[in-house]
Amino acid sequence: MKRIAVLASGRGSNFEAIVRAVKEGKIEAEVVALIVDRKGIAAIERAERLGVNWLFVDPSSFPSREDYDAKIVAILKHLKVDLICLAGYMKIVTPVFVDAFPNRILNIHPTLLPSFPGLRPHWQAIIYGVKISGATVHIVDKGVDTGPIVIQCAVPVSPEDTPETLSEKVLKWEHRIYPQAVKWFVDDRVRVEGRMVVVEGADYSKLPVVPALEDF
Ligand code: GAR
Repeated sequence: MKRIAVLASGRGSNFEAIVRAVKEGKIEAEVVALIVDRKGIAAIERAERLGVNWLFVDPSSFPSREDYDAKIVAILKHLKVDLICLAGYMKIVTPVFVDAFPNRILNIHPTLLPSFPGLRPHWQAIIYGVKISGATVHIVDKGVDTGPIVIQCAVPVSPEDTPETLSEKVLKWEHRIYPQAVKWFVDDRVRVEGRMVVVEGADYSKLPVVPALEDF
């Protein structure tokens, strides 16, 4: 059974979507831990409700981001994790972390990357005036939101949208594409060739997401 760890900094709704997909038997894996870098966040309450072990690692106890990441890597190695999901994790990961788990760290970002990486993504999309936004699950590399793309969804932006309303619309889709991407990794269907991620047997011809959702 594959072992998954999730890292989060806030609300934790994507963490919950992944755990629920596991509990429903759609993903044959175990979520062995939630690791958080902030105290008192909703993700912790969700972990307690869902019966997932959680752990707070305090960034202020480490002299640098690299030292912090070395501690996270040590914990993840100790837990023998196969896949790491960043889910609303607001720290930029360092090469110490990325090099320890090549092609095994996923992130979700709520825009159609490479548009609008980094902070305040929905605000960036709205002030740019895009008519279609969305979300992207990608493999984490050493850049910020730059890694190879696994799956995307497209969501229309209306003139009335605010960052809050757009975020709500996109989030519904995030909760479907993230578990789908995790399942593909757990089922060993993912091949990475440079920037290109190919999911074996996936249907790349259907909208609204590429590849087409199968299980979610
Ligand atoms: C999600 O919309 C996720 O895409 C975004 O933060 C939110 C976390 O929600 N992530 C980023 O912006 C990362 N750059 P959640 O805590 O409820 O899953």
